[in-house]
Amino acid sequence: SDDAVTLMKQQVGKAAADRVQSGTIVGLGTGSTTAYAIQYIGERLQKGELKDIKGIPTSFQASVLAKKYGIPLTSLDEVDRIDVAIDGADEVDPQKQLIKGGGAAHTREKIVDSLAEQFIVVVDSSKLVDKLGLGFLLPVEVIPMAMTPVMRAIEGLGGEPTLRMGVKKAGPVVTDEGNLVIDVKFANGIENPADLEKTLNNIPGVLENGLFVDTADVILVGEVKDGQPSVR
Ligand code: A5P
Repeated sequence: SDDAVTLMKQQVGKAAADRVQSGTIVGLGTGSTTAYAIQYIGERLQKGELKDIKGIPTSFQASVLAKKYGIPLTSLDEVDRIDVAIDGADEVDPQKQLIKGGGAAHTREKIVDSLAEQFIVVVDSSKLVDKLGLGFLLPVEVIPMAMTPVMRAIEGLGGEPTLRMGVKKAGPVVTDEGNLVIDVKFANGIENPADLEKTLNNIPGVLENGLFVDTADVILVGEVKDGQPSVR
């Protein structure tokens, strides 16, 4: 149920926030699960349990939440490392490979998450899959003037591209970077995430795609069993 999913997201967000240590630079991910982690990091700062944290946001959403919950922000120009990044995912396979970008933030997420010493993924158990791309379409961020040739190139790779449209907006979704998102369906799922990640990023006009290969260090999974939430 929706309630169970919310509970799982809260639990796993809290578990990730509990791993953050004082004096560290923290990558702040995007999405509804990470939002709980940001909230709990803020609460730990308030209580004085955590001190001297600086956040690096992966999106406009993350920076708004960080400000709301009192987490000081910094940027990649001002730090020489990111100690830990906490971020959600849309799908996680048994090899810890991810599809991200459901929130159209995967370009900045990949920069921050891959720079982090430790990248902690926070998901509820519904995100675990045996094979990537069967349930969730693969997001590809594209520079607007290249939309049509990029879509053709993706068809040439056997993918079925759809331009992501806004929900409460006429026209397409525009990313924080001012680009478009093409969601790609691969009928048989994604056979080789590492190859596809590189192949897609080689198409002129593609900025970044949502495959995160060998980036995740820890996967925290929120579960509800017999009505009891837990994290593994
Ligand atoms: C944002 O672009 C995504 O990569 C999110 O991290 C992902 O969609 C997970 O979001 P939820 O936690 O809201 O499912």
